Amino acid sequence: MSQSWLILSGKGGVGKTMLAASLGMALARKNLKCCCVDADIGLRDLDLLLGMENSVIFDVLDVARKDCKLKYALLQHHELENLSLLPAAQNGTSKDLDSETFQRIVNKLKKKAGYVLIDAPAGLERGVKNLLPAADFNILVTTPDDVAMRNAERVLALLDEKKKPRPMLVVNRLPVERVASGECYSPQTVANTLDVPLLGYIPEDPAVQTALSRHESFMMQDCPASQAVERICRRFLGEYVPLPEITKKRRWFFKK
Ligand SMILES: Nc1ncnc2c1ncn2[C@@H]1O[C@H](COP(=O)(O)OP(=O)(O)OP(=O)(O)O)[C@@H](O)[C@H]1O
Ligand SMILES: [Mg+2]
Repeated sequence: MSQSWLILSGKGGVGKTMLAASLGMALARKNLKCCCVDADIGLRDLDLLLGMENSVIFDVLDVARKDCKLKYALLQHHELENLSLLPAAQNGTSKDLDSETFQRIVNKLKKKAGYVLIDAPAGLERGVKNLLPAADFNILVTTPDDVAMRNAERVLALLDEKKKPRPMLVVNRLPVERVASGECYSPQTVANTLDVPLLGYIPEDPAVQTALSRHESFMMQDCPASQAVERICRRFLGEYVPLPEITKKRRWFFKK
């Protein structure tokens, strides 16, 4: 049975698009068909993170308005044959995409791919509310700080109100050293505070930005963030993968 997953957050900029792109790549590398949908209408960027920005011609709004068929808007990833992207419109707003039409598009995608990952806009506005009916499951992304967590609580309240199941949690941009020294919440503390199951954490990793500035994905490198996404992908598929222990880096002092 195909599944659609909506990737949500309360606060903006916490890493939803990064997670949609990298989890999509991780699934595709496991020979699982995956379609990433950019539902952040007017703020398209999932194509950039997948290195597919030069291929975009049509988008989800063109499909919704019946200006083009889904198969013409759907883009195949250059290197990963199991990965495809339905890009967002660069113009327009989330109001232009109504809930039933979006649900119909996602249902069609579920016939083509086992996993449909939908990258949502931040927050609770109509744009997000319109996407909720199309999602079988949800992933909530937050950073381990009070502001992002408080906004995440609002998303949880919205999901409860809409009678949606509790989401899985990804804690992103974790400052591992600060967690080890007790200056920052641990991923498990964030999950316990929000009362949601933890799918995993992704450390703050300069490789994410460096790869992006080279128009590449950090998923093509062996770095802490790509290893973390790989573990998240395995848990997402139901495998038991323990969280790596967060410990202080040892500092060695040599006597002169
Ligand atoms: N683990 C990480 N380590 C370092 N940088 C990261 C990490 N995760 C995300 N970033 C950076 O944070 C920025 C925001 O990420 P992203 O665009 O995925 O967030 P978003 O939640 O989709 O934002 P928006 O709400 O605006 O759609 C990007 O520049 C991205 O490269
Ligand atoms: Mg985004």
